[in-house]
Amino acid sequence: MLRQLRPRSAFRQSPAKLVTAIWESSRTYAGVAAPAPSANLQGIDPSKLTITKTTTPASLVDPKQLVFGRTFTDHMLSLEWTASEGWLAPRITPYQNLSLDPASCVFHYAFECFEGMKAYKDSKGQVRLFRPTKNMARMNKSSARIALPTFDSNAMIELIAKFASLEQRFIPSERGYSLYLRPTMIGTQRTLGVGPPGSALLYVIASPVGPYYPTGFKAVSLEATDYAVRAWPGGVGDKKLGANYAPCIVPQLEAAKRGFHQNLWLFGKEEYVTEVGTMNMFVALKNKETGQKELVTAPLDGTILEGVTRDSVLALAREKLAPEGWLISERKYTMRELSEASREGRLLEAFGAGTAAVVSPVRNISWKGELVGCGLKPDQEAGEIAQRMKDWIEARQYGDEEHEWSYVVPQ
Ligand code: COI
Repeated sequence: MLRQLRPRSAFRQSPAKLVTAIWESSRTYAGVAAPAPSANLQGIDPSKLTITKTTTPASLVDPKQLVFGRTFTDHMLSLEWTASEGWLAPRITPYQNLSLDPASCVFHYAFECFEGMKAYKDSKGQVRLFRPTKNMARMNKSSARIALPTFDSNAMIELIAKFASLEQRFIPSERGYSLYLRPTMIGTQRTLGVGPPGSALLYVIASPVGPYYPTGFKAVSLEATDYAVRAWPGGVGDKKLGANYAPCIVPQLEAAKRGFHQNLWLFGKEEYVTEVGTMNMFVALKNKETGQKELVTAPLDGTILEGVTRDSVLALAREKLAPEGWLISERKYTMRELSEASREGRLLEAFGAGTAAVVSPVRNISWKGELVGCGLKPDQEAGEIAQRMKDWIEARQYGDEEHEWSYVVPQ
């Protein structure tokens, strides 16, 4: 049978050397090709990086005018992978369109995963990445889950650091602003056969950003979604797959129709609270019997995204709130529990946590016709814990506090 053996480069200006993919050889079952196992696949080699600079640098947008994810920098970082050779030489090129065969498996079977991470400019003008090892570890978990290739995290961080350094003129220095980095991996195999991609593209683009919500650091109102679930046990809700995000838009639109900023994801007949929009959810409660204060978030049971900000909030809470007497819990909690705590004045506050918004305070939650107040006074936009978390996290992101979470990009 005659088949296309050569994965098409995703680039119009493709590298001179394109490898011949051997994946669609005789190794097929049920009409599905399996990637050819190769003993010595190349890993990512940062020393092979080539840089082609743009000849038409963009003018900078006034930070105040930035809309999240709409403005991009001059360049992109790309790495192609094939099942026969492994990772090809990394390239920084001018930001450009991809050229992909319409049969590329990403378009048909959602072979796509991504990361969200940020580069910050500190008071000395140094560029800093925040906890990049966490993002790379998660990306490897996401890619492995959908049969995309994995990679060496440190090599990728080195490349991302070089890319962020090249684009540093786009990083606003103002507090609350940063360069959002979007590592993305797609399966590029030209096939309608449902099988592991024999070729892939890993690319990173960058977008200068300000506050995620146009309203800034202000409390949002939520609608609890009871007719759809985001993730389920045994599913892929803990992975950062694009396929997890598209189905979230309709419930968000539904919530917006009724005047809410975001939707709150529940799970099961117990109506466990899981995530808020695209963020992890935190609540601060006072125990009914003991009065003990508790900061709670849902546990990583496979349905919850392993958020880097979630992990940072938990670590900071254990470091700074536990000594003040707080109990820090990763446990299941229900909408009923929140509603009861709210009525009894024991729901102190609630907030979402994610890379894009960092911390997003919640004013109330619409649930079964009830508006569950989340502890804020009418003139208050953030609770004490949300405000302190934002300050603590930003201190490490912007390097005001030297901390191992901050990776200083070599100049
Ligand atoms: C985040 O909060 O970091 C997200 O995942 C949102 C992003 C998809 C824009």
